[in-house]
Amino acid sequence: MKRIKKAVLAGGTIAALALAGCAVEPGTQGGGSSNTLTVACGATEEWCKAMTDAFSAKSGIQTSFVRLSSGETVARLTATKNAPEFDVWHGGPADGFGAAMAAGLIEPYTAENAAKIPAKYKDPNGNWTGVYVGALGFCSNQARLKDKGLGLPQSWDDLLDPKLKSQVSTAHPSTSGTAFTTLWTQVARLGSEDKAIDWMKKLHSNVLQYTKSGTAPGQIAGRGEVAVGLVFSHDCVLYKERGMTDLEVSFPKEGTGYEIGGVAVIKGGKNADGAKQYVNWALSAEAQELGPGAGSYQLPTNPDAKLDSRMVDLNTIKLVDYDFAKAAAHKKELTARFDAEVAAQPKE
Ligand code: G6P
Repeated sequence: MKRIKKAVLAGGTIAALALAGCAVEPGTQGGGSSNTLTVACGATEEWCKAMTDAFSAKSGIQTSFVRLSSGETVARLTATKNAPEFDVWHGGPADGFGAAMAAGLIEPYTAENAAKIPAKYKDPNGNWTGVYVGALGFCSNQARLKDKGLGLPQSWDDLLDPKLKSQVSTAHPSTSGTAFTTLWTQVARLGSEDKAIDWMKKLHSNVLQYTKSGTAPGQIAGRGEVAVGLVFSHDCVLYKERGMTDLEVSFPKEGTGYEIGGVAVIKGGKNADGAKQYVNWALSAEAQELGPGAGSYQLPTNPDAKLDSRMVDLNTIKLVDYDFAKAAAHKKELTARFDAEVAAQPKE
């Protein structure tokens, strides 16, 4: 009953149809109904489910999601630009949101709760707002490293050790936001795209294969198929907690990259009111505190949200100067360079 009442409040003909018993099936993609919402979700399945279930329960809007890596989301949004299938994009690094913004796929929206979020964690024009922060780390299988006579990597260049041939797993920056963060981190710390591409070429010999999703390398390392996975450190913490006990996180002493996970309204989505409600809710402490219960230990961006001891302490690690706007502006061209100059090349 509560749900129907809210749908009416959200307004529109379809809400009236719902009352007349002609409701669109919950979880279908929009269908013009103000009672459904579809989220392109960029974090883990478990987090996406926890978030969309909680929002459904709170708002009465039946909310479904599709889990997509960052580059896949931009590709899907681009392909369906004239008839968008999603209302909201939630989760995944902000550089992907910046790329979507440049392609005209995002509707700027400054939610009331965005006022709570520090300026460094949001786009000044409301194209995206940060919901979490995660730091890139080395996710190592200690037994595999021991086999190779190596300790935990402490530097980016430790990954270039010939003893780690085919022993490093990382995702592909065209699909994965995690991997693009890795790539831009090299630009930030080395000072130019050319130097970053050169460093990635050296790493290439040690990479077993490039995965589609950003979290896969942590699991590949957890299974002992490689010695080191490049992932956001909180993913490694989760896999260790879930039984991959050989895993251990370390950070590069020169500085590591980080993500601001975003949320945004999709331009031309079928449920603009619902999308705005969702974005506002995603920025609340209440929503962000759901992370740890769903195995997601990113830092919340809302200062009122409680921290969890499993979250990284940014004061204890060195971060590179990561320019999100610049990274977004160069994403397409730099990933194309990575494709041609690194991934497509034979290994030595
Ligand atoms: C995982 C992490 C998130 C991150 C996301 C990026 O879900 O927990 O913090 O934003 O990966 O996914 P992608 O597949 O695009 O690298």
